[in-house]
Amino acid sequence: MPITISLINLKGGVGKTTLTVALAEFMALQHDLKVLIIDLDPQTNATVSLMGEHEWKKQNIKGQTIVQLFRDYLENTHIFSAREAIVHNVSNIGGGITGLDLLPSSLDLIDIQDELIKIPTRGIFSQRPLTILGETLCEDINHYDIVLIDCPPNLGLITQNGLILSQYYLIPVIPDVLSTYGIPQIVARVKRLETETGVHIKPLGVIVNHFRKNSPLHTNQLHLLQLNAEKSGYHQVFSAIIPEATRAANAMDFTLPVRSLHDKYGYEVPFKPYQKLSEEVLSIVSP
Ligand SMILES: Nc1ncnc2c1ncn2[C@@H]1O[C@H](COP(=O)(O)OP(=O)(O)O)[C@@H](O)[C@H]1O
Ligand SMILES: [Mg+2]
Repeated sequence: MPITISLINLKGGVGKTTLTVALAEFMALQHDLKVLIIDLDPQTNATVSLMGEHEWKKQNIKGQTIVQLFRDYLENTHIFSAREAIVHNVSNIGGGITGLDLLPSSLDLIDIQDELIKIPTRGIFSQRPLTILGETLCEDINHYDIVLIDCPPNLGLITQNGLILSQYYLIPVIPDVLSTYGIPQIVARVKRLETETGVHIKPLGVIVNHFRKNSPLHTNQLHLLQLNAEKSGYHQVFSAIIPEATRAANAMDFTLPVRSLHDKYGYEVPFKPYQKLSEEVLSIVSP
């Protein structure tokens, strides 16, 4: 059984995708782990940054993306095949990283989300389709060490499917007032999901991203986040703090071929904080 971790925040632009991709690359290359990324966001940013737009378009035309997995549920078909949908050895590092795979997303996931919402639930939680993802993928993900799920910026049914499959979740934030505002809501919502389904989904902590050390606001918010961690139920703030760095943003461009993690992330920033973050995460989740 793999260790599965969802990256969630109700806010977009905080670094969910950037951190999912970086953590996956560091875990695969520096820790020799077999990693699968599941892209649950219709914005397809993780997908495009890991396999490029050209390959993704081909995959999308074939219809083998996360969309078909959910569409099969809605239309009672059996078209999705994990074997065809999972793309192997993705990333622009070295032409692809052995042991880093991707279940790609598609823009059509927006429509699927709308369709899923229309399913009548009569208010009974257990009747909501929360296990579509887990039940469809079950055996196909067993041989991975780590599964990282890049969630869309909402707590809708698709995100809930990702959470139910996860033992852990991470909350990336920008340390400003708006970006940290939704944290209590995330924690409360996951707790409710746990109570109502009996599944345990533990918070690993908050990842501070886009940090500007010269900003009094950022420093103050970081302090508050650290102070409130236990009380607010998100466990901790990772000591690896990710600074705002042009290199972190540029790294998401698949069209720039790179040879190594250093080539992609430099020697200092964001390389060192990413390396530290992946070590911190693994030190908690590794058996
Ligand atoms: N540490 C960072 N420094 C500078 N830019 C960053 C950093 N992390 C992410 N970005 C950029 O910020 C934007 C939002 O990040 P992204 O990972 O797409 O957020 P999300 O998935 O939460 O919407 C992207 O353009 C990304 O390249
Ligand atoms: Mg994203």
